[in-house]
Amino acid sequence: MGRTYLVTGGAGFIGSNFVLTLLSQRPDAKVINLDKLTYAGNLRNLERVMEDPRHVFIKGDICDRELLDGIFRDHDPDFVVNFAAESHVDRSISDPSVFVRTNVLGTGCLLDTSKAAWQQGDSWREGKKYLQVSTDEVYGSLGAEGFFTEETPLDPHSPYSASKAAADLLVKAYHDTYGMPVNITRCSNNYGPYQFPEKLIPLIINNCRNLRELPVYGDGMQIRDWLYVEDHCRAILMVLDRGVPGQVYNIGGHNERTNIFIVKAIISHLRELGFEEVSEGLIRHVADRKGHDRRYGIDPAKIGRELGWQPETMFEQGIIKTIDWYLSNDAWLDEVVSGDYQSYYQRQYGGRG
Ligand code: NAD
Ligand code: TYD
Repeated sequence: MGRTYLVTGGAGFIGSNFVLTLLSQRPDAKVINLDKLTYAGNLRNLERVMEDPRHVFIKGDICDRELLDGIFRDHDPDFVVNFAAESHVDRSISDPSVFVRTNVLGTGCLLDTSKAAWQQGDSWREGKKYLQVSTDEVYGSLGAEGFFTEETPLDPHSPYSASKAAADLLVKAYHDTYGMPVNITRCSNNYGPYQFPEKLIPLIINNCRNLRELPVYGDGMQIRDWLYVEDHCRAILMVLDRGVPGQVYNIGGHNERTNIFIVKAIISHLRELGFEEVSEGLIRHVADRKGHDRRYGIDPAKIGRELGWQPETMFEQGIIKTIDWYLSNDAWLDEVVSGDYQSYYQRQYGGRG
């Protein structure tokens, strides 16, 4: 029988990729997609499924308890998959308050509503599960050696990662206190289609295409562990299906790269495509991010061993697919970089380039 998925934040980068993957892989799935449509949410990402009767889009806030109660009453979801969040570290440094509201209070509100709908005395209705989409950033920063495992203590540094860690602890508390069936996934940096160009990879692609300066924070030797977004979405589906309630699963593909490597890889592919004016001369080392985490690196052994998940898209193919996607979706890019983006860019980079 088909299951009903309440996906929150399903108009954002990873959420929209997840909704598209889910509906294409599971013909009998029904998706209730709840998204506030902040600057980061975009219904254009969902154009392929907006007319699909299996997809119901609701514009609204995960902090709105009355709305959530109504959704549970009308649709009785089997799964809640919480992608909704403020997700950008730099914005969290300039204004942490909205991160606390959405990421912490919003998660609390979703948990409360799920509990009210799913708990029956001391037990829980069969087949229900809450999945919190979290991040490796809750673990803090690594030195040159070692990886984050699910046992690594939480040690977040930015307001963003602190708000995500707080949310994770609330989710854990609902499992430990009430026995609520939950999973937490902690994935490394994602890249791919529909990512808002405030994040490194789409920002660099967009600046290259406009021959704008390429801002690299500090020495550019910080390391991120990149995963193609579809691999993340497949992992979430596996955890929903077979993840042991109460367990955390790290998701990552052992693909660590320095930021400067990423920037140069994008320049090099664009030059191969004939963008002759794009060159390393556009790179500008700018002031470092405050509290900048030096290195992230995921140990994905548990999800591989227990659920059989493996990444499918290697970085070399993934980055080319991503660049090609942005180039052939220039109307999408032009639209999202109008309006709020311009004022954000001015504030963050002082109108450089
Ligand atoms: P995103 O910023 O692209 O999308 C977030 C979505 O949430 C947007 O559509 C936005 O409109 C919606 N939203 C924001 N506040 C809301 C609210 N109060 N109520 C309802 N909807 C709201 O983010 P993303 O990169 O797609 O990340 C999705 C999730 O995955 C986040 O929870 C993030 O912490 C996590 N994550 C992201 C990455 C990454 O590399 N991007 C890696 C690991 C985990
Ligand atoms: P980002 O895409 O914001 O993801 P996160 O901070 O969640 O890892 O940044 C990825 C890395 O790129 C991070 O080390 C910060 C760096 N960075 C730059 O050097 N310049 C930029 O303009 C941006 C947005 C990020």
